[in-house]
Amino acid sequence: MIAEAPARTWPHRHLIDVEGMSRGEIERICDLAVDLREARAARRVPPLLEAETIGLAFYEPSTRTRISFELAAKALGATTVDLHLAGSSAVKGESLVDTLRTLERTGVTTLVLRHASAGAPNLAMRETGMRIVNGGDGAHAHPTQALADALTLREALGPLDGRTIAIVGDVAHSRVARSNVHALGALGARVRVAGPPAWVAGFAAWDGVEVATSLVDGLRDADAVMALRVQLERGATLGDEAAAWRLDSGRMELAAPGAPILHPGPTNEGVELTAELANGPRSLIGRQVENGVPIRMAVLALVCGVA
Ligand code: CP
Repeated sequence: MIAEAPARTWPHRHLIDVEGMSRGEIERICDLAVDLREARAARRVPPLLEAETIGLAFYEPSTRTRISFELAAKALGATTVDLHLAGSSAVKGESLVDTLRTLERTGVTTLVLRHASAGAPNLAMRETGMRIVNGGDGAHAHPTQALADALTLREALGPLDGRTIAIVGDVAHSRVARSNVHALGALGARVRVAGPPAWVAGFAAWDGVEVATSLVDGLRDADAVMALRVQLERGATLGDEAAAWRLDSGRMELAAPGAPILHPGPTNEGVELTAELANGPRSLIGRQVENGVPIRMAVLALVCGVA
């Protein structure tokens, strides 16, 4: 069993969600990420995690999250091990819990877990002694993506108090949207979700979240706009809505002047937004990816109690 982190450093042994995280905690992660980003650029990152073995268990595909966690862990001096799902004993029928216990017994101290089932990280937390970091569970939460997005928005807009951030597209199936609603709300932003009724289903009941079901209402005066992929793997369908809601430079004129466009990726250019918008001067999509590494460095350092 791993020792609890010293009380003065960081009060959480795991990162499962940003829901319930305080503004101060989110800002602390972002501030530490900025420091670690500078240290990494100068090749002066202290080996804070040299005693740790970080496991990566991705039961769903990933490019950004998996690669950036691996780079983050290695930059901090950790040993890393990737489950490589397709070549693992999971394909022979080994259960999730047995696989996680096996990783723990081989020496993994902190596990980054992505899984199609919402709640899988909570199960890992209950059934093992490893520190657990959620790399995305079903449509529930993707905390490190939201933290990278929060840092990106903070650097583009300054303090987010009172700023309107529109999240546009298949919000209903999006773990990124849920985590962003919590993180951006905690930072003082007005969060608006926008899409045809099926894509924003359930959000009317969320405290403090505006819901818009027309593109004009969704984009009006938005200080930043985040587009989302249609999550076909979670049962969404690509109907006529896709073209009606596709973001392009012309439609972005409905937002505040110069409002940036974000997207957590992977993008389907030509579906939820045009390639011209994704790769144009308004786009912060590359910055979101770049900030993913230092945010994950900060998260790993904090949950491991070394920062
Ligand atoms: N945004 C995100 O989670 O991307 P990946 O699926 O590539 O990790």
